[in-house]
Amino acid sequence: MCGIVGYIGYEQAAPLLLKGLEKLEYRGYDSAGIAVYDGSGLEIYKSKGRLKILSDMIEGGAKVKGTVGIGHTRWATHGEPSDINSHPQVSDSGRFAVVHNGIIENYMSLKEYLINHGVEFVSETDTEVIAQLFEYYYDGDMLDTMLKVLAKVEGSYAIGVISQEHPDELLAVRKDSPLIVGIGEGENFIASDIPAILSHTRDIYRLEDNEIVALKADSITVYNMEKEVVSKTPFHVDWDVSSAEKGGYEHFMFKEIMEQPEAIRKTISPRLKNGKIVLDDVSLSKEDLEKISKIVVLACGSAYHVGMNAKYILEKIARIPVEVDLASEFRYRDPIIDESVLVLVISQSGETADTLAALREAKRLGARVISIVNVVGSSIANDSDDVLYTWAGPEIAVATTKAYSTQLAVVYLLALYLGEKRNTITTEQLERYVKGLENLPNQIQEILEHQETIQYLASQYFNSRDIFFIGRNLDYSMSLEGSLKLKEISYIHSEAYAAGELKHGTISLIEDGTLVVSLATQDMLFDKMMSNVKEVKARGAVVLGLTTEKHKEIEKTADHVFYIPSTEDILLPSLAVVPLQLFAYYVASMKGCDIDKPRNLAKSVTVE
Ligand code: G6P
Repeated sequence: MCGIVGYIGYEQAAPLLLKGLEKLEYRGYDSAGIAVYDGSGLEIYKSKGRLKILSDMIEGGAKVKGTVGIGHTRWATHGEPSDINSHPQVSDSGRFAVVHNGIIENYMSLKEYLINHGVEFVSETDTEVIAQLFEYYYDGDMLDTMLKVLAKVEGSYAIGVISQEHPDELLAVRKDSPLIVGIGEGENFIASDIPAILSHTRDIYRLEDNEIVALKADSITVYNMEKEVVSKTPFHVDWDVSSAEKGGYEHFMFKEIMEQPEAIRKTISPRLKNGKIVLDDVSLSKEDLEKISKIVVLACGSAYHVGMNAKYILEKIARIPVEVDLASEFRYRDPIIDESVLVLVISQSGETADTLAALREAKRLGARVISIVNVVGSSIANDSDDVLYTWAGPEIAVATTKAYSTQLAVVYLLALYLGEKRNTITTEQLERYVKGLENLPNQIQEILEHQETIQYLASQYFNSRDIFFIGRNLDYSMSLEGSLKLKEISYIHSEAYAAGELKHGTISLIEDGTLVVSLATQDMLFDKMMSNVKEVKARGAVVLGLTTEKHKEIEKTADHVFYIPSTEDILLPSLAVVPLQLFAYYVASMKGCDIDKPRNLAKSVTVE
């Protein structure tokens, strides 16, 4: 989704803004732009396409002089990607420049009003309305003007504004869109996310909804909507710059795949004490636990696939009925929710608009909300009753890997926690699962060490037109994730099917040579899966089987096999996902795709 960077200080702003925007590329964008005050007026440079085009246009920033500026990467919502629709958007007179992430829902009526008052618009964006409103309401004071503008706009926004009337000031505000403030010495920053400013400062403020920040080179003042000064506590970022960068790997996605053992270790170890699950972050009382009538999981994309796994895992371990909903569908189906329902929200970014809206709807209906989130202090984390953070670190590649794995690890912790509290598992079972959980990072490491086997398989099939994934039960959820990963980054058409459902339609798509990745990790369903594998083989499919070391007999049926180590059945998805990620990665790499930034996709989708 859109990225914002702003700077005020003593350094040349343009190169710094470009570098910051580069760090936000992972959010997905289709155009970029900057505005810098050059001593007499605002210099604006914008371009459709990759940042490189903008950077070349202004010689890496050298062409633009000035020490205050704002920059933006845009992911089009209102108006096609174009130079003119890119941000910053500028007011009629050129005195105000605005960058914006989010949507101004009432922009049409505001635009009409302004046009009737003689204002000329040049873009199709909702953002231009903000810039024009600044001009319209400007009364000599930036903060007062901002308050007047905010009183008119409805929707979600993170906004940064500079003006040639007040070149020593940069104003920003947020509501339902992320924005942080970087604290420097003689310089200060705003950004949509930490990596954009991490090479300059590690001390940040996280702006809350409806907080306005006024930055000068040597001061930061945060106001609420009543114009009262708000006192904020800074947050110190302790992860290093390299963890937000590629660290020697060709792609963020590969680096993040390799980081999974460590990410899972970090996520589970603080929550395992003497063989017990300790979830200090969950404040459910004994009565709360007893009254849970069902769990509803809400998420989008890969996080939704974690939710599908969660259904099998929570029902098996905690014996509570679980429904899983795509967040974008949940709100509009008149869901049956009351105080007895525990809602589990899963989101890497914590900012996905559909997920956030579904969460709010669930809360409005009385549910208690626990979220599994990777970004500390994000909107979903803030709005939840309890948050179980995944300690995956920043995930930059659009296609999620380590966030997915840590979300799954948290699902196990939660299931075992509930199972233990509700006496639905024995002490002996708990011990076995905990041991299995602790062993997952080593087993994943083992799989990663066999990456060349997957690389070889990818080399055989990267030219495929269609690739199918089939499995039953947890292997079905994994098929969905394997298929999504592949199509997201390699653009190969792929379907995931519950293996038993194939014969009800999809099998007609199998032709001579079609690759069918067949997941058969679950002991209980192995034989059933083999029947389904035979069905596709009989129609000409080539089968890549994925199973555990104990099922060597798969070699009689499958053309290729990748073995994963054995563990408890419910833990197998954590292992199975790794070869699927690597397969998608290598296929995309062999096809020469833009792996970290697949076309049309965004990392953090902050519009519904
Ligand atoms: C986007 C990303 C997916 C992600 C989904 C949910 O579509 O491309 O990788 O799974 O959003 O994101 P969240 O941040 O809520 O987990």
